[in-house]
Amino acid sequence: MADRLCQMIDRIYEYGQADKEILAALIEEICCFENNDALEYLRQLAYKTAHKYFGNRIYTRGLIECTNICRNDCLYCGIRKSNQKIERYRLDKEDILDCCEEGYALGFRTFVLQGGEDGAYTPSFVADVVKSIKENYGNCAVTLSFGEQESDTYRLWKEAGADRYLLRHETANKRHYESLHPSWMSYENRVRCLYNLKELGYQVGSGFMVGSPYQTPLHLAEDLLFLTELKPHMIGIGPFIPHKDTPFAGMASGTLKQTLVMIGLLRLMFPKALIPSTTSLGTIAPDGREQGFLYGANVVMPNLSPVAVRKKYMLYDNKICTGEESAQCRSCLDLRVKSVGFELVVDRGDYKE
Ligand code: 5AD
Ligand code: FES
Repeated sequence: MADRLCQMIDRIYEYGQADKEILAALIEEICCFENNDALEYLRQLAYKTAHKYFGNRIYTRGLIECTNICRNDCLYCGIRKSNQKIERYRLDKEDILDCCEEGYALGFRTFVLQGGEDGAYTPSFVADVVKSIKENYGNCAVTLSFGEQESDTYRLWKEAGADRYLLRHETANKRHYESLHPSWMSYENRVRCLYNLKELGYQVGSGFMVGSPYQTPLHLAEDLLFLTELKPHMIGIGPFIPHKDTPFAGMASGTLKQTLVMIGLLRLMFPKALIPSTTSLGTIAPDGREQGFLYGANVVMPNLSPVAVRKKYMLYDNKICTGEESAQCRSCLDLRVKSVGFELVVDRGDYKE
């Protein structure tokens, strides 16, 4: 069995792709059974691939959680509109610029502005914030992540100077998508947004949750194949973790192993992609992010949000790094990255062909 699985892994390493059925079988065999030799083999090839393109460099992005107000109602998400138990907040322009100032001093050269789909974050407001960041920090990249927007809005933000956009597709199976989202959201619109962002010239990040409710190995294989078509520059994945005040409160989390397997496969299929080791991975296991680097992840996105709002941006239960100052997070990560032989770099960390 181990030999057969290792052969499949070899083929993915060599060709960068595989059929849906093969991917699904491989994912199932490694994740659901004790195929530790195959898991270690995947890890070694993924590590070798990341090393070939990035050496021991880990890129870092400062994440600013701008608003937890959201018109959407994704069933998995703690800041969904129907959650009446959370205290809502929104940062103003000055708050965001303060975070950037602090982040710049700490060595961040990419700022990620993320938030819910908040009507007060109008196209012109966000464009104005982006312009100011670019004026103050011309050598930094600005990444936006404010969900699904009109094409004109994405264009305006691009013209204002935004470099990148993060929008996970969440799942590439239409029926599965519908089981995770409210009736007014559609898979087609999600995909339309992603292709639109690419056309507009953004470096695009997509991705999915691992172990989300009702997900099967076949769905995960479909996620990988969807990404081979989209060809994103960045791919963010992390385990699903339930939030106590959502309809998925009682559901099981995605596991560390499942997530590591998917990071490893992503690295083999997308050798040059920017793949973060996410906060959710660090939440389900104390050394989750370190392990992510050993499976080919090469980006980390510590929190730059003001400490006063961090506990309010709870997408899932027990999220880490909500009590720490930005400087603490940065130096903690420095140590974590070093503990597995990598180095955090002061760099925009653009995608390179
Ligand atoms: N568990 C894990 N990840 C989540 N996200 C939202 N809710 C959860 C959850 N409960 C992820 C989604 C979203 C990103 C910002 O956070 O994939 O795209
Ligand atoms: Fe935030 Fe360790 S990375 S405290």
